[in-house]
Amino acid sequence: MRTLTLVSAVLAGLIAQVSAQTGRPRVTPVDATGPADPVTDVERALLHVLPAWYVLGALERALDAAMNRNRTQAAERAVFQKTLSFFRTELTEHLAREERALLPALEARVGRFGTLVNVIAYDHDEIRRGIDKFSEALAALRAKASAPHAPELRELNRHGIFLVQYVGLHMAKEDSSLAEMARRELGEEGIREVARRLRETA
Ligand SMILES: [Fe+2]
Repeated sequence: MRTLTLVSAVLAGLIAQVSAQTGRPRVTPVDATGPADPVTDVERALLHVLPAWYVLGALERALDAAMNRNRTQAAERAVFQKTLSFFRTELTEHLAREERALLPALEARVGRFGTLVNVIAYDHDEIRRGIDKFSEALAALRAKASAPHAPELRELNRHGIFLVQYVGLHMAKEDSSLAEMARRELGEEGIREVARRLRETA
């Protein structure tokens, strides 16, 4: 199921709409014993997209709490470390799978430069750079965890809030504009082909 995370991100407009209406994500239970079907697989894969929203929310809350007292506590540093682990694994894999299985199919249809394909690829590079900066800032903060570390916290906050906002906007962009482009340019057969490639690149 994890292999379909990216296709799900592209087609997850329904979840984005529900989230916008209710203020929080809502997952529809899926019958895992049902027949193999790309659309059903996409719905299942949504279960693996939603954690990103929770991780970003937890990161923002931990940063706010620490910034309010100008110092981190152990629980907040644990949130930062778990967030970095999520960025380094699930999120980074998400970007790579999308670049292998989805973007080439769209590029073949609409080209790259001056199109949404280039925008999405640029976003991915910015997210990777942001993760590296967040990682460096967290290492610096952890090295001074037992001493006053307001400057290190401010630096971590700067990169953390950037990722919260940038990754959030990127996912919203994929849920709306990229999903629309994929439906229009690839059609049902094209989407099935992307789903097949995602399985192969797991
Ligand atoms: Fe993406």
